[in-house]
Amino acid sequence: MTTRWTRKDLLGLRELSADEINFILDTADAFKQVGTREIKKVPSLRGKTLVNFFVEPSTRTRTSFELAALRLSADVINISATTSSLTKGETLKDTARNLEALHADIFVLRHGSAGAPQFLANRLKASVINAGDGAHEHPTQALLDLYTIREKRRQIAGLHVAIVGDILFSRVARSNIFGLLKLGARVTLVGPSTLVPREFEKLGVEISHKIDEVLPKADVVNLLRIQHERQRREYFPGIGEYIRFFGLTKERAKLLKADCLIMHPGPINRGVEIDSEVADGLHSVILNQVTNGLAVRMAVLYLCGGISA
Ligand code: CP
Repeated sequence: MTTRWTRKDLLGLRELSADEINFILDTADAFKQVGTREIKKVPSLRGKTLVNFFVEPSTRTRTSFELAALRLSADVINISATTSSLTKGETLKDTARNLEALHADIFVLRHGSAGAPQFLANRLKASVINAGDGAHEHPTQALLDLYTIREKRRQIAGLHVAIVGDILFSRVARSNIFGLLKLGARVTLVGPSTLVPREFEKLGVEISHKIDEVLPKADVVNLLRIQHERQRREYFPGIGEYIRFFGLTKERAKLLKADCLIMHPGPINRGVEIDSEVADGLHSVILNQVTNGLAVRMAVLYLCGGISA
């Protein structure tokens, strides 16, 4: 392998090359091996301090980054919006600079505003890892999705991936689109026209508003939650209507290819974008995604943490 990692930050997949993405996935392979050993810890980040800074709620990403850092022997500090001095009016930059003064080496940031990780990365010597910024990007989610597809189907090039649901407000969709296209997949976005506007075609994807036409042709179906917290108006008549036209119901799942992978970044709204029988069924790799997130995040922390000053 000739690729060398030179970035202190991971802010999105838009700016990464296919070689860099593959390098992260190959590094994650090595860390997945570490997870099978009796002693699951390596000393790679011993002496480094990671700040897990979550200004928006999270279950999977926050715990996965914390566990990844602990497995790499880093010290970890968890900060949430409600327990930090952000509630007293301190700016994000001041909070981060104060933590850097305590010699934090890596910041993992989830924030409701697109561009917040970039803002910090430009001002700090420490590494900044984007754990989801507004409706912009969620790079480690897309990397773990790519890793899971590659693990199950050996290669990503040539696969047809359908991403279904609330694309307009989804950082997961954006990062997946960039990563999948760079690695040679065909991508179709599916959902109501209000949440899947034609503008996305400029990125190089196809658009469909008819899920029943796409499901029989897809190798992977990645379902997304409706992100009510980001929507400022109604984008479809109601949940019942959404399920009728776009929900992956038990009946609709009969249209899937026998070897189709069903993915979901979580949290799942069972009975809305996906029926329980499908989420827990034979096609589902949803919990494999969570498991793989640990190895992928170990790889990202190892690579970026090795560059930070
Ligand atoms: N997929 C994901 O980002 O989940 P959390 O919001 O629980 O971190």
